[in-house]
Amino acid sequence: MCIVMFFKELTSYVLTKSICLEFRALRWFGQPTAATHPHLLKEGEVTLGISKTEYKSRRTKLFELAKENFKNVSLVKNHILILPSATKLYMTNDIPYQFRQNSDFLYLTGFQEPDSLLVLHTSPDDSHDYHSVLFVPKKDPMKELWDGPRSGVEGARWLTGIEEVYNSEELERFCGDFCKRMGHFALWYNYMKPVHLEFDASVLRHFLKEKRHQFLETTVHLCQKLRVIKSQAEIELMSKSCQVASNAFADVMKFSYPEVKESYLHAKMDFECRMRDAQFLAYPPVVAGGNRANTIHYISNDQIIYGGELVLMDAGCEYFGYTSDISRTWPVSGKFNAAQQSLYEAVLFVQESCIAMCTTNHSLDEIYRKMLELIGHQLKKLGLISAKMKDVEMLKVSREFCPHHVGHYLGMDVHDTSEIPRSIKLQPGMVITIEPGIYIPETNTSVRTEFLGMGIRIEDNVLITESEPVVLSAACPKTPVDIERVMQR
Ligand code: GLY
Ligand code: MN
Ligand code: MN
Repeated sequence: MCIVMFFKELTSYVLTKSICLEFRALRWFGQPTAATHPHLLKEGEVTLGISKTEYKSRRTKLFELAKENFKNVSLVKNHILILPSATKLYMTNDIPYQFRQNSDFLYLTGFQEPDSLLVLHTSPDDSHDYHSVLFVPKKDPMKELWDGPRSGVEGARWLTGIEEVYNSEELERFCGDFCKRMGHFALWYNYMKPVHLEFDASVLRHFLKEKRHQFLETTVHLCQKLRVIKSQAEIELMSKSCQVASNAFADVMKFSYPEVKESYLHAKMDFECRMRDAQFLAYPPVVAGGNRANTIHYISNDQIIYGGELVLMDAGCEYFGYTSDISRTWPVSGKFNAAQQSLYEAVLFVQESCIAMCTTNHSLDEIYRKMLELIGHQLKKLGLISAKMKDVEMLKVSREFCPHHVGHYLGMDVHDTSEIPRSIKLQPGMVITIEPGIYIPETNTSVRTEFLGMGIRIEDNVLITESEPVVLSAACPKTPVDIERVMQR
């Protein structure tokens, strides 16, 4: 490096460092930053692993996608996209739930505070270009005394790299000015299912009623189209989320014992995920001993699991905005009996066959159809249904033994990008779950008694690539041998 460049680099480094130090000394933000939480974030990152540049390129792609999807190009050249943040929810008077940011808003800004809003609009000077505008809660010492610091306009600008930032209270004025400046425009806003009810009632509903826009569209599909394909940084976060949950699962298995309470396994999973730096569990986990595993969304987790019973746990964590979603079923005493093992191996065979289909040649719906067929064959093999049953009848019966789909897209949300059809071919960069199960409730009078009351699901998280699928939750013990080995220790 030449000496001039060296000094230039050095000056820029010292300047950045000193700005960071100044921010660290002078202010706190409404979220971790490289300045205040250097143990978590690197400079240039807005959230862990995701840089300002990546957030900016997501906004650019969204704007481009809106234009691409717009059919009336000859009538309207100007667009405005309005994407509100989530708002705080309260458990009881003044007692907030843990805040979780709206995923689309987080995906586009990295900004973690409630009552914020992102606007993307066509530049008034050049209809090919666009501007980002961020609205954030204004600094308020009284509110901050109770709720902690807010980034404010200056902090949000520094943090996100978005240059045009206003207090949320200025949204109404902004909308009015926009109409005057832009004339004809298309408005993109989720008017059918408003994310932020207060912004909707106080400003956005009026904005809509004034009918200054020529066209009205929603942003849901646009955001999901982007979010369903993960970037390299997102793949790393998804891998980490899966790794954390997988290792935590192994610890929960080791910790299990006859007569353990479901609530203890729930607590152990939560603890082990947090001890590996996850923020919280991604959803209320299912911890279902014995016959309770046949209630697909069993989340009471308040019973005792007796020796000889299986436990089905469906749990995952949220790691810096990215979720994992894993299910395992294991004998609480550490050893499968013969019937348990044979049913388990049947589900495992189906699951691994489905994972092998996770390539760009197939869709989730195709894998689902294959899963029903494979389950049917396994049920015949186990003597749970007649070996002579015809295919049409067999597929119908398979749906009774497994009433849910084979899987879903996974990402910032557990049931991620739910508007993206499962009928499209899988694409590199997608992450999906593969989660077949066989459920035999005690009330099923048509099967042999040794299988009654068993519910088994095996769920992994799979990254789609140009070639072979990558199981991101591979560290979670899965074969009977692995499970029994882990539980011996
Ligand atoms: N944990 C919800 C699901 O597996 O889809
Ligand atoms: Mn699950
Ligand atoms: Mn799932």
